[in-house]
Amino acid sequence: MDWGLKNRLSRIIKSDGRTVMLAVDHGYFLGPTTGLEDAGRTIRPLLPYADALMPTRGVLRTSVDASASADTPIVLRVSGGNSILSELSNEGITVAMEDAVRLNVSAVALSIYVGSPNEKKTLLNLTKLVDEGQRYGIPVLAVTAVGKEMARDARYLALCCRIAAELGAHFVKTYYCEGFEKVVKTCPVPLVMAGGKKLPELEALELTHNAIKRGAAGVDMGRNIFQADAPVAMIQAVRAVVHENLSPDKAYDLYKSLKADKKSGKRSKLRGVTAKSEGAK
Ligand code: 5RP
Repeated sequence: MDWGLKNRLSRIIKSDGRTVMLAVDHGYFLGPTTGLEDAGRTIRPLLPYADALMPTRGVLRTSVDASASADTPIVLRVSGGNSILSELSNEGITVAMEDAVRLNVSAVALSIYVGSPNEKKTLLNLTKLVDEGQRYGIPVLAVTAVGKEMARDARYLALCCRIAAELGAHFVKTYYCEGFEKVVKTCPVPLVMAGGKKLPELEALELTHNAIKRGAAGVDMGRNIFQADAPVAMIQAVRAVVHENLSPDKAYDLYKSLKADKKSGKRSKLRGVTAKSEGAK
């Protein structure tokens, strides 16, 4: 891996081999998702706790302060052209690599739809992006989107992740499943777990814990953070699981204490949980 590419990837996946990425790219096909109606207002308080931010270029340019996010690596969503009203798998590349470089991103991200009517198109999107990423030293994150008719099981996700890695993706975002360790073991690049639909906070922390325990490098979580009752408390609880190996129960206790403190306006003096600048080892 060329020096620049390696350097950019290590901004995202920290020296402990872990990462907490905040996904806020939903609008490119979902429109104004609950919790992201005012993206800037949602993102601002969460930024100090995100190891990386995954926006679209529209949200990056309009809603993320270029100086305030100076030490938050950007993983830019560069695929789209679809919406929830159309065939979701019908995605193309929506950002030129030159613009991604201009935006000083640390990686680019696209979705692949294995087994869908547009499988080949999305896989060739990936290879094109990898070729350009290699040229500019920009890592590529492949997001394994799961087609409606696909079972989100280890066999299918292992297939998607391995194909993404074989085609050159530098890291892959996929869903947690039973037998997740098999998905990790058969994928030669780092895997981050997608948060998926909003769950009760304890469940989301259990999912995070299980994925880390079974070899995930971290999470790329959106709705389970910004749709939580207390998003800043939630991202800190997720960080505690990912970077401090806190158990789900202890992380949930932390979430509740931080949430209560926020309510009472008290500054939390909780063990260990810190913003990325002081926290991630
Ligand atoms: C599409 C995506 C979403 O845009 C987003 O990144 C998902 O994040 P989460 O499921 O954690 O809300 O990846 O496949």
